[in-house]
Amino acid sequence: MPRKKQTQLLKVTAVAKLKNGESIKFVVRRPDRTTEAFLIKTGDRFYAYLNLCRHWTVGLDFDDNEFFSEDGGWLVCKNHGAIYSPTTGECESGPCGGASLYRVPLVEKEGFLYAEIGLIDWGD
Ligand code: FES
Repeated sequence: MPRKKQTQLLKVTAVAKLKNGESIKFVVRRPDRTTEAFLIKTGDRFYAYLNLCRHWTVGLDFDDNEFFSEDGGWLVCKNHGAIYSPTTGECESGPCGGASLYRVPLVEKEGFLYAEIGLIDWGD
């Protein structure tokens, strides 16, 4: 019988802290590893993903917390130029092979955003 995933909330930031087109990075800890993630705001909505490209298992940014394309319409992997939809995480073009970024579910409570880290599909 599959194990039921448990909700585990990690406070990321205050809702008011992020403007459209901005991002903030945070760290998700598991017993066997630590993985960076990032939260973005676009179109007045929030989304979060693990900072792992689907081409190689490396971060999309060069540690500079800049994920958006110049026009703000895409998330870009700076390594080889893969681009992803900011609202779905789906790979639009580049060497990411149609795979999607690993989504981090979010919850908004009392003016703060929390990552539901127990519900992340880590792909393993
Ligand atoms: S590592 Fe991201 S496109 Fe190659």
